Amino acid sequence: MHQFPHTRLRRSRMSSFARTILQENWLTPQDFIYPVFILPGQDRREPIPNMPGIERVSLDLLIDAAKHWHRLGIQALNLYPCIDPALKSDDCQEAYNPNGLAQTAIRALKDALPGLGLISDVALDPFSSHGHDGVIDGKGRVLNDETLEILAKQALSHAAAGADIVAPSDMMDGRIGIIRKALESDGFTDTLILSYTAKYASHYYAPFRTALGSSGNLGKKDKSSYQMNPANRQEALLEAEQDIQEGADILMVKPAGHYVDIIHQLSQAYPIPVFAFQVSGEYAMQKMAIEQGILPPEIVMESLLCIKRAGARAIHSYYAIELAESLSH
Ligand code: PBG
Repeated sequence: MHQFPHTRLRRSRMSSFARTILQENWLTPQDFIYPVFILPGQDRREPIPNMPGIERVSLDLLIDAAKHWHRLGIQALNLYPCIDPALKSDDCQEAYNPNGLAQTAIRALKDALPGLGLISDVALDPFSSHGHDGVIDGKGRVLNDETLEILAKQALSHAAAGADIVAPSDMMDGRIGIIRKALESDGFTDTLILSYTAKYASHYYAPFRTALGSSGNLGKKDKSSYQMNPANRQEALLEAEQDIQEGADILMVKPAGHYVDIIHQLSQAYPIPVFAFQVSGEYAMQKMAIEQGILPPEIVMESLLCIKRAGARAIHSYYAIELAESLSH
């Protein structure tokens, strides 16, 4: 069995047609979710220095662009508001302002493009004066249970604005349960919860924090008292079990490229879908190597295909639009 020369594995690699029909995984524009950074105001567009090719844009420009992306086959956006620093506070009240930037964007996008899925980020880092995902005490410790109350209000304000999926990315314990309960009791029984189940305390988030304007606030502090240790794998199973029990519809692993073992493990262990998030640092590394001619552009497709092969049902990627464009030609 499977022994040379009885079996020659190269036979199936000899011609292009055979390689194509024998390929196990494919990428389509429908595989991607596009993360976007939203600015207040109108007709504003700012390049993000550490993420070449990615911009923060105001809502009017975003709506125009989103029409094009949806036509390319992109099914959903994940929205990140870059709010006026004057609105940031210790108690993060702006996070659940019904007329805040995220809530306004959700309403306007739903109105313009009802068929485009909207995923909203539930976490306090864009709204906190200190850059953490939760509220802190006098000693700078991130407080779990106090944060949960605010996250539930934030998730409800997104659902009320029309978000299809609320996505808690904060890594507080018990957040899925409290958000699910709040959604149920307010009648939002159809709102999906995408849980950032295995979100690691990663240095690959650095360009994102610059994009959001939270890196200055965070300074030298890190998020390792709530995000997972990159050295750990089993712990991801514990996180997943809690999330499923508490009412998550979809699990997510983040970052993606160096964490494909976790994607694989969760997708094998549980029947609920697992998404992946190819983060800002993964994007920036590849982009800069390509721009300098050190690596060919094909590495983008390769990296995303590997993430899909590992078991990701859909992938958040800053390459979503570029790839959807090239795949539709
Ligand atoms: C925080 C959040 C982060 C990202 C998404 N939501 C970063 C962090 O934990 O500091 C990272 C996304 C990226 O790097 O592309 N709620």
